[in-house]
Amino acid sequence: PPPGWNLDADVVVVGSGVAGLTAALRCAAGGARTVVVTKARLNAGSTRWAQGGIAAALGEGDSPEQHLDDTLVAGAGLCDENAVRTLVTEGPAAVQRLIEAGAAFDLSADTGQIALTREGGHHRNRIAHAGGDATGAEVSRALVGAVRAQGIRTIENALVLDLLKDAEGRTAGVTLHVMGEGQHDGVGAVRAPAVVLATGGMGQVFAATTNPAVSTGDGVALALRAGAEVSDLEFVQFHPTVLYLGPEAEGQQPLISEAVRGEGAHLVDAEGVRFMQGAHPLAELAPRDIVAKGIMQHAAQQGTDHMYLDARHFGAAMWESRFPTILAACRAHGIDPVTQPVPVAPAAHYASGGIRTDLTGRTTVPGLYACGEAACTGVHGANRLASNSLLEGLVFAERIAESVLAADRSLPGPPAADRGPAATLLPATARTRIQHTMTAGAGVLRSARSLSSAAGQLAALTTAADGKHPEPGVDTWETTNLHLVAQVLVAAALRREETRGCHWREDFPDRDDERWRRHIVVTVGDAAG
Ligand code: SIN
Repeated sequence: PPPGWNLDADVVVVGSGVAGLTAALRCAAGGARTVVVTKARLNAGSTRWAQGGIAAALGEGDSPEQHLDDTLVAGAGLCDENAVRTLVTEGPAAVQRLIEAGAAFDLSADTGQIALTREGGHHRNRIAHAGGDATGAEVSRALVGAVRAQGIRTIENALVLDLLKDAEGRTAGVTLHVMGEGQHDGVGAVRAPAVVLATGGMGQVFAATTNPAVSTGDGVALALRAGAEVSDLEFVQFHPTVLYLGPEAEGQQPLISEAVRGEGAHLVDAEGVRFMQGAHPLAELAPRDIVAKGIMQHAAQQGTDHMYLDARHFGAAMWESRFPTILAACRAHGIDPVTQPVPVAPAAHYASGGIRTDLTGRTTVPGLYACGEAACTGVHGANRLASNSLLEGLVFAERIAESVLAADRSLPGPPAADRGPAATLLPATARTRIQHTMTAGAGVLRSARSLSSAAGQLAALTTAADGKHPEPGVDTWETTNLHLVAQVLVAAALRREETRGCHWREDFPDRDDERWRRHIVVTVGDAAG
């Protein structure tokens, strides 16, 4: 049988981005028998695609306190200040440990210290980057290398299905759909008293996203089915500057990092007017919800659906050395940023919410932890500050490892017979229907009407699936997971009758601190209709 069937471990880490691999490395270093399970290859998730970098108060004149202030402002009144304080104070040392694990950041030619750039919402240069605009690729390379060097057991091509619980409701492991290289697909299990969900985001719930195809909300869906609480799901961050490939573009779209604006690129309309000037004191470097709205509003006024990023003044040499990935992506689509303004529009980028955790990554289900984009630790509030996500993965993964290592590691009893709500699998063909429904009804601009219509269309998909039983497989499970997270996201977005952070309601255009300075916590029951 494929590897991973009925294996015992002290901890199973699901996902292999910065959060999962950091957690695995620390757990294994502390002596825990650690298994990493990942849906595709170890480097296939979102981490590898991160461009801008990692935010940390490393520069002269900067301090965790200033990083805290910028994070709280971006989070629009909904950050958990303790969580942010943890992030910004433990961040610099966590970055240092990442360097010790093998990651090489770009250095300043003048000082020989880590080169730091700026992104939206930051009042200091505090973004460390690698390979110019290939930070995530370097982080992933270093962590995958360290995991292999430590001999940590990894199971690739294995989609996690559901949480196993013992008779007392404690975590007892996970079930997996293991893809046996076309020979023997099948369901197996890893038995463990601790499970860390580090499955990343859910950008694929929308038609156009910066996320890779694997970002289908699997961890959030699993956690919901396991009865865990999920929070802040309505706060989907739309990255303002994604290469615009036409109104019909679908799937993963090329990101044009905020760091391009951080280095001085201008957002302009077709006439070359810098429309963000005067709209916010930070202009192009305002927090990204403000820039995304600025682009949408200016585009609507001009009867178009995109704007332009003009960085011709960088010149060829700077483009080649500082932004080689973006330059290549643009040129692959026939646009040369050295000689042309780059067409850009917002696209789904980051789930600021996720599985609710405390400051040690514990969810509301004993033994179940969540980390990285899959989690809601409280650091992002209503809108994540640029480049805080790799940092969150690093800092909270280390905290989870401490918690796992301190906990009782005796193997759980046999899984309880009652495994909670079983998923009704949806056919894979429903995937594009879900994505288009979400983009139309729960995209950048929302209203009760658009959201109710989306809820109705999603519910109809469940009805349509009744009576038919698609084959269990990765595509049907992913579609089923997308459907579940889409439903709870829409339910939360409908409930929040205000505009805050990246949640933008046309019918409730103002922020309403009296009613809504609070979190919307959802459970699996909220998916019903
Ligand atoms: C970017 O490079 O613009 C993305 C940074 C982030 O999403 O934090």
